[in-house]
Amino acid sequence: MARLLLRGRTLSFLRWPDAADDHAAYRYEEDGGLLVDEGRIIAAGPYERVAAMAEGARAIDHRPHLILPGFIDAHVHFPQMQVIASYGAELLDWLNKYTFPEETKFRDAQHGRRIARLFLDETVRHGTTTVAAYCSVHRQSVEAFFAESHARNMLNIAGKVMMDRNAPEGLRDTPQSGYDDSKTLIAEWHGKGRQHYAITPRFAITSSPEQMEMAGALASEYPDLHIQTHLSENHAEIAFTQELYPWSRDYTDIYEHYGLLGRRTLLGHCIHLSEREADALSRSGSVAVFCPTSNLFLGSGLFDYQRYRTRAQPLRIAAATDVGGGTNYSMLRTMDEGYKVIALNGEKLNPLASFWQITRGNAEALSIADKVGTLEEGTDADIVVLDARATPAMRLRMETVTTLAEELFLLQTLGDDRAVAEVYVAGSPAKSMLG
Ligand code: GUN
Ligand code: ZN
Repeated sequence: MARLLLRGRTLSFLRWPDAADDHAAYRYEEDGGLLVDEGRIIAAGPYERVAAMAEGARAIDHRPHLILPGFIDAHVHFPQMQVIASYGAELLDWLNKYTFPEETKFRDAQHGRRIARLFLDETVRHGTTTVAAYCSVHRQSVEAFFAESHARNMLNIAGKVMMDRNAPEGLRDTPQSGYDDSKTLIAEWHGKGRQHYAITPRFAITSSPEQMEMAGALASEYPDLHIQTHLSENHAEIAFTQELYPWSRDYTDIYEHYGLLGRRTLLGHCIHLSEREADALSRSGSVAVFCPTSNLFLGSGLFDYQRYRTRAQPLRIAAATDVGGGTNYSMLRTMDEGYKVIALNGEKLNPLASFWQITRGNAEALSIADKVGTLEEGTDADIVVLDARATPAMRLRMETVTTLAEELFLLQTLGDDRAVAEVYVAGSPAKSMLG
């Protein structure tokens, strides 16, 4: 594969930006260059310096667009593409009425392959190069997802949902089959190319104590795997969970009891946590995943981002779409709604922090920042190119923009897939190839 020399306004974060004028938190080149070889960024910096090392490389000029690390979505359900936009229910009714019947269809391997292909098309179209995805309970849905992801050379995290109760026939495994299928999938897919397996008990309501034991057994057998589940999303969910595990101090205690907390644990939602629960997450290094479009759509509540981030024992936080409870595939749309959720909690998230979150911040939360989430030399060339003048309304508003932070905020507030001019996955153009 020919080497690529990309030119544009490069932006990559170094750490959490404290304010919209915290210029030390990022590296920005007004005329930047990236030299990409064999899927990696091998040089990054001022264009003239990088170009001097790039003899024979194919040059692609993205000026005046911004070049950032590809976005990361830390929690999404690929089998819910035909659930998104389902009207009128809160979490438990929404699961029973819409989500579970739809996920039942994934026992058909062909359906799974079709949706996996369309899902990753949509992901790339929106500038997202890595997701942490739930598949369905069916082993073949995981095969379909990883096969498609591997063929595209994407770095994705995914797992078979384990669920053995409180769900319809055709959408339940057993403690033993959930364990066995997970092991088979781990052996086949974890570490194959850029694929990562996540142990995925759906949530405490749909797993029996025996299945939770099995999930804990997998977690101790495979300590380098991610674990993903849901926690404290909705009041009715919390009350039902408490009935099912009457011995537990609170919802978090259940996952703690079965050995499922830790630095690779991704907990979707975490809206209604007590101080004790937040302390338990902080102590274990578990990640609270903020899913603003979903939390608003399902009326679940307001994730207190700034409280979690600044408390004495801070939480590690990621951001995510949670499609199909979430309402958009775009991390720009996600952070626009996130900004509003945080505003309702009386705080403001600065635009630099938003873009840190969906790039380096999510990569750190997922423990993959050595590979993706920045434009640093030696990392994988997963890249998004953003056009802040993509629509007439954006172009007009750009006339009055004077700073990088203002441009980012405009992209977040008005942008969507139309603002994504190109995407590179492991150094290859991916969005323009979709047709
Ligand atoms: N809790 C358990 N399963 C789900 C799901 O599919 N979506 C959401 N939003 N919450 C869940
Ligand atoms: Zn979810």
